[in-house]
Amino acid sequence: MNPLALAAVAVALLLLYVIRQIRVYNSLKEFRGPPTSAFSRLWLLHAIYSGKMNLHFNTVNEQHGDTARIGPRFLLTRDPALIRKMNAVRSPYTRAEWYNSLRLHPTRDNIVSFRDEAIHNKLRTQMSHGYSGKENLHMESDIDEHLLQMFGLIRQKYISTDAQYRPLNLSRIITFFTLDVISTIAFGKSFGFLVIDDDPFEYLKQLHVFLPAIMMFSVFPEVQKIMRLPLMRKLAPQATDVTGLGKIMGFAKDVVAERFGDNKVIRKDMLGSFLAHGLTQEQLESETITQITAGSDSTATAIRMTLFLITTNSSIYSKLLSELTIAQREGHLTRPILRDSESRTLPYLQACIKEGLRLYPPVTGLLAKEVPPQGDILDGRFVPGGTSIGWNSWGLMRLTEVFGQDVEIFRPERWLPGGGQNKEQIEYMNEVVGLVFGYGRFGCLGKPVAMVELNKSIAELLLRFTFQVANPAHPFDSTCIGFFLHENMIFRVSERQEPLDFHNLQYNLSTVATDHAGLAYSNGALEVEV
Ligand code: HEM
Ligand SMILES: *[C@@H]1O[C@H](CO)[C@@H](O)[C@H](O)[C@H]1NC(C)=O
Ligand SMILES: *[C@@H]1O[C@H](CO)[C@@H](O)[C@H](O)[C@H]1NC(C)=O
Repeated sequence: MNPLALAAVAVALLLLYVIRQIRVYNSLKEFRGPPTSAFSRLWLLHAIYSGKMNLHFNTVNEQHGDTARIGPRFLLTRDPALIRKMNAVRSPYTRAEWYNSLRLHPTRDNIVSFRDEAIHNKLRTQMSHGYSGKENLHMESDIDEHLLQMFGLIRQKYISTDAQYRPLNLSRIITFFTLDVISTIAFGKSFGFLVIDDDPFEYLKQLHVFLPAIMMFSVFPEVQKIMRLPLMRKLAPQATDVTGLGKIMGFAKDVVAERFGDNKVIRKDMLGSFLAHGLTQEQLESETITQITAGSDSTATAIRMTLFLITTNSSIYSKLLSELTIAQREGHLTRPILRDSESRTLPYLQACIKEGLRLYPPVTGLLAKEVPPQGDILDGRFVPGGTSIGWNSWGLMRLTEVFGQDVEIFRPERWLPGGGQNKEQIEYMNEVVGLVFGYGRFGCLGKPVAMVELNKSIAELLLRFTFQVANPAHPFDSTCIGFFLHENMIFRVSERQEPLDFHNLQYNLSTVATDHAGLAYSNGALEVEV
């Protein structure tokens, strides 16, 4: 080829590239966003790697509108109506390429990663029975068992007294709790984190590597394609690994294998239900891993953040405790662990749980859905088919027009009559906070499990122990990359002392009076103190 022709080809290619870029740029030009986002995904890369994805997302919607542009073909929304529209049962929107990254198994998809509507729907129908609890009869008692184990562990190793300070790593123990619960509910066998109070296969450590990698793949699918090459596959987790996600895969493979063959185990748990509804051995292996990853950190975030927010405000803390102790004294709480149904009758507890989910929605992004081929009109603006739209749940839960002016404040009262919102507004707030679990045909299947865990753990922890945050100036470390990684949330925990009732008070007074023989009364100090 002569040089002139070569140059002509090069110029033509460049021109094509520029035209394509301009087309892409123009396709969403009616949506505002950070300057680089029209041409590149750099902003997204930065938002993910900052470890403060939630805050960057929130800022974008604050500055550029409820639906803003964050990539050449990527929008981000905090509009509850749009989120419902995309997820609704008969919506033409589908899961965007983003979801490919949730394929944790090297070769198989799972319920969270399937993008084909027909396959996803079928699987969801097959699995809904097991998740709903109707075919998973031991769910509540499995949770109770691990609650008692957690209380035992705290009593054994982490109770502080005047003489001894024994810090409790709350972020860690709650993750252990949710991992043990989900493994027991999912396949009848606990990982046993709470028994040994340790993370022998470095699951937590590896999450810090895997979650950022998954987020990276979700925004840069081309990197994931490279990782799928045979040469690179060795780097991916394997069922034969002795640590991390690979170890969980091995565990899953073993428990699933037990349900097949001549000496197969038959049990009425989630795995048993999935099996009865026709899932194959291969499907069960990848779904089991999904349950563990979808159901542990999300629930752990909700429990520990809600506990943290309650115990760091003395008036909220004591108001909740008095609701709980009165219910207990009047015999409304089953001992040693209250029933889920009893927890639901305690309005202040329920308000605290909703407010915790609102302030710290455990799943923050991006869950992108794809605009159908024919395109769509959003607020009068055309959006071409194939555009991805991610959700900003952090921003969604901070809409002042929904929740009031003080959205950054943990204020359970906003959910109750007399807390500043009228009845219709509270109904709307309930609808919007429900979106923390997703919506419609993609909504969380594990919500019943998560709610039972929340309803029981918070009440029972507060009834047994007194919590004081160890370092108010820096209470915990937090990284947000779609999920939250909370670490070093350290508390001083002591046995809760029942408040003195009238008879106890008399008794104490009389002992003090005898011990100090007249002295105490002579200066009147005791009366003032009481
Ligand atoms: C507070 C705790 C939890 C929160 C906030 C939460 C949140 C979510 C969200 C937002 C989605 C929707 C994703 C989408 O739009 O594609 C989802 C899906 C899902 N969650 Fe949860 N989740 C929680 C706990 C759990 C638990 C405990 C389990 C398992 C027992 C679980 C299993 C699932 C599954 C299987 C899906 C996929 C449903 C589907 O694709 O049809 N989640 N979750
Ligand atoms: C605790 O929360 C209540 C109710 O939201 C609020 O009125 C009070 O000022 C807060 N107290 C502190 C010390 O933050
Ligand atoms: C708390 O637990 C995490 C996770 O296991 C660990 O990395 C961290 O060192 C612990 N922090 C303290 C202060 O014990």
